[in-house]
Amino acid sequence: MSEPTTGATAVSTASTAALSGARGAIGETLLEIRGLQKYFPLTQGVVLQRTVGHVRAVDGVDLTLHRGETVGLVGESGCGKSTVSKLLVALEKPTGGSIVYKGKDVTGLSGRALKAYRREVQIIFQDPYASLNPRMTVGDIVAEGWSVHADVAPRKGRLKRTQELLDRVGLNPDYVNRYPHQFSGGQRQRIGIARALALQPEVIVCDEPVSALDVSVQAQVMNLLEDLQDELGLSYLFIAHDLSVVRHISDRVAVMYLGSIVEEGTDAQVYTQPSHPYTQALLSSVPLHEPHLRGQKDRILLQGDVPSPADPPSGCRFRTRCWKAQDICAEEAPALVDRGQGHPAACHFAEARMVVPVEVAE
Ligand SMILES: Nc1ncnc2c1ncn2[C@@H]1O[C@H](COP(=O)(O)OP(=O)(O)OP(=O)(O)O)[C@@H](O)[C@H]1O
Ligand code: SF4
Ligand SMILES: [Mg+2]
Repeated sequence: MSEPTTGATAVSTASTAALSGARGAIGETLLEIRGLQKYFPLTQGVVLQRTVGHVRAVDGVDLTLHRGETVGLVGESGCGKSTVSKLLVALEKPTGGSIVYKGKDVTGLSGRALKAYRREVQIIFQDPYASLNPRMTVGDIVAEGWSVHADVAPRKGRLKRTQELLDRVGLNPDYVNRYPHQFSGGQRQRIGIARALALQPEVIVCDEPVSALDVSVQAQVMNLLEDLQDELGLSYLFIAHDLSVVRHISDRVAVMYLGSIVEEGTDAQVYTQPSHPYTQALLSSVPLHEPHLRGQKDRILLQGDVPSPADPPSGCRFRTRCWKAQDICAEEAPALVDRGQGHPAACHFAEARMVVPVEVAE
């Protein structure tokens, strides 16, 4: 399919103002997540359903997001990344823990306050095919949020505003009456970005937004997200299962395993001094494009499968696959603290180990 983009033309000062809401200082704490939990009930029986257990999809996640930064959240399939993103945008209610946004706990919000929060924290989904209604025009998709948040865009100027948004994400504004099936995967993801921008958000949760795209298109969408961040002061929680994808865009990286964060730090810390065995294993599986460096990479092959989140191992959840496990690992869950590596890792025996050559990691 052709790519009828306008090449992300420079946006005027007037339309930049229309895309961004009121902003505070870069670097201030926007979101603080503490001990976040989401347990899904496991039920049995057809007529009389009874709960026989729980899937601990998210089990004690701590994360902080500052204004203007990108935090990368990485982990294998099923570790709870999408559940964290749904909790953050209030599509799910947490079982426990808190999400503090601009100093207020938003987990119990309802009515107007919830509506205001939902406007400020938007989401872009992984699958650009499934996340757009095929029966709506692109213009209606982008403008849909204004039916709930009418104050963001006065009714009279909505068409112009929609076209500005399409232009800003690199789509031809004249295609406002086309349908999603008339666009390629990358273009559909741009439509999803325009839809999120329409509500002038402060935070965008990007749940694997480029995983379904070709590598060359991935880079274009990532560049667009970075440009928008510079221009509008946006903050991103950027989710991926591949450390190489988040490296490109993240200021800080959090590594997730079976429902909780096992290591967190600046991108340089996590890439050059990974201290949790799981992070080391993830990094060792990142492909290197420079042939002369390939022989210098540590190969760590993880044994066994990820345990079920319905029946996680006692103590450290990684212990069933860890080559360093000792008795204490089965008895005591390691806290996510700095044990001398300069950044926190949830391992009793945390130790920095360079897995990928520095030349590549920096
Ligand atoms: N509504 C639900 N009911 C029951 N279990 C659920 C529900 N949603 C998610 N889960 C389970 O919670 C766990 C975490 O799922 P989640 O989708 O958050 O993982 P993920 O890290 O986003 O995976 P992926 O990389 O495949 O997208 C999985 O075991 C999943 O099966
Ligand atoms: S706490 Fe033990 S099992 Fe867990 S990662 Fe560290 S060494 Fe491995
Ligand atoms: Mg997911």
